[in-house]
Amino acid sequence: MEDEREAKAGLVEGDEHQGVAGVTMTRRGLFRSTLAAATSVALNGVHAAPAPASAESGSHAPRANNLVRISVTINGVAHRVEVRSDVTLLDLLREQLHLTGAKKGCNRGECGACTVMLDGRRVNSCFVLAATLEGRRVTTVEGLATGDSLHPVQRAFIKCDAFQCGFCTSGQIMSAVGCIEEGHTGSNVEIREWMSGNLCRCSAYPQIAEAVETASAEMHGGVHGTV
Ligand code: FES
Ligand code: FES
Repeated sequence: MEDEREAKAGLVEGDEHQGVAGVTMTRRGLFRSTLAAATSVALNGVHAAPAPASAESGSHAPRANNLVRISVTINGVAHRVEVRSDVTLLDLLREQLHLTGAKKGCNRGECGACTVMLDGRRVNSCFVLAATLEGRRVTTVEGLATGDSLHPVQRAFIKCDAFQCGFCTSGQIMSAVGCIEEGHTGSNVEIREWMSGNLCRCSAYPQIAEAVETASAEMHGGVHGTV
């Protein structure tokens, strides 16, 4: 039971990976499933430009210009975009759509700086292929506030002074939204466990946990909707 809880919280090192959405999976398995989904999109005829003849045409050579067209809703706005089949959600957000709230820390699913919500569940966006996003719904930290009104988690992070350099903060905030909506806020220890996939080099963990606790109390009052 303890092992299972640690695995779900992303505490187990090695080849296992728990994005942040409560699903345990090996890194190899996760890569396989996302690659399979991307291939499925291409084979189902969405769009895949033929790869040009190249000297690097061996089995491991990248297929340049292998493009996939997807429709995805980001922060409530419908986007029709064309992406290379190897582009991650994080790079789609940052490089193509110029939504730079999600940060690129490790770029390999270990730090949580790139956390966003995908269909209402928190994920490491550096670990999601953009080509798998057809018809899906993404919320980034830019989409949390309602007009001038900050989300309760954003307000709580400010109130509790839950950051120093701020690099990890957008990921912490998105993860906190997921943590609260998943109901993992029963105690300070539980919050720390379910936020453990989000690293903070400045070690603002006590304030982050306090902010999650504060926001949870407000959100359970039904003040803010889901994302
Ligand atoms: S940048 Fe995605 S987990 Fe570190
Ligand atoms: S506030 Fe600096 S890394 Fe978290």
